[in-house]
Amino acid sequence: RVPTVGIDIGGTKVMAGVVDADGTILEKVRAETPEKSKSPKVVEDTIAELVLDLSDRHDVHAVGIGAAGWVDADRSRVLFAPHLAWRDEPLKDALTARLAVPVMVDNDANTAAWGEWRFGAGRGEDHLVMITLGTGIGGAILEDGRVKRGKYGVAGEFGHMQVVPGGHRCPCGNRGCWEQYSSGNALVREARELAAAESPVAYGIIDRVGGQVGDITGPLITELARSGDAMCTELLHEIGSWLGVGIANLAAALDPSCFVIGGGVSAADELLIEPAREAYRRQLTGRGYRPEARIAKAQLGPEAGMVGAADLARLVARRFRRAN
Ligand code: BGC
Ligand code: NA
Ligand code: ZN
Repeated sequence: RVPTVGIDIGGTKVMAGVVDADGTILEKVRAETPEKSKSPKVVEDTIAELVLDLSDRHDVHAVGIGAAGWVDADRSRVLFAPHLAWRDEPLKDALTARLAVPVMVDNDANTAAWGEWRFGAGRGEDHLVMITLGTGIGGAILEDGRVKRGKYGVAGEFGHMQVVPGGHRCPCGNRGCWEQYSSGNALVREARELAAAESPVAYGIIDRVGGQVGDITGPLITELARSGDAMCTELLHEIGSWLGVGIANLAAALDPSCFVIGGGVSAADELLIEPAREAYRRQLTGRGYRPEARIAKAQLGPEAGMVGAADLARLVARRFRRAN
């Protein structure tokens, strides 16, 4: 029942924590994600440094990684990552060699779904869909306590379903992806655009960043929305509505009992989730004639991916001990 380390590697930050067997975070450290232009090795350096730091104060027996990318069916290589430099990167082997403990690698939204199912809003749900709103949109399908991976490991990439033909360009290479309309990046892009245009609705936020439009961040938008700023509230409403539209589509395809919404943007709580519920109710096919899935906010918040990764690492370490 020893604690393990979970690491969530997102498009903007890397979060690492020591987590015990019931999901309690004992210590947490973080770093910025190295820029996409840097080599994959730099991200691995960052991971190794965080683990080394935690090993000073904790016995680290296993490390679980939730990575913002497309992890192959063997959970060994990152095939592709729209927001990171990984292209067919042998992440598991590279880290196992450096860390000298068992390493588990999975997609970040998959580990978040696992975390929420084990310890959070998804407990007891046998048909759960996780959606994380961060830099992009992460997705995961968890049925009867198993993450559905598809044949090649890449199931659940909901963020890259097209919702607007000819829409915004996405770093995956396509246009009009869902994550271009409902994510932290989408929120910030819209706010910066309004501020750059010196729209009268943007005066509040322009003031807050002293005219430095580039300093507008997701957390700032949420903070201002909380204190009643009309533009920020409206932007979260828009992101939330797109979220609800996507959820209705996913309900048509997957028919789960519960959607759990996580990732950094979910910190906006009801300012995001209520518009999502509204749009979902309006868009759900066959509405009124079918049971409706519940939409819940992640209880572990932005830490779900890290906690889930640590818990999955515990399972892998146990298997490793049995086999050796
Ligand atoms: C990536 C996913 C990832 C998600 C959230 C998306 O752009 O394709 O693999 O889970 O962002 O980080
Ligand atoms: Na996934
Ligand atoms: Zn895309």
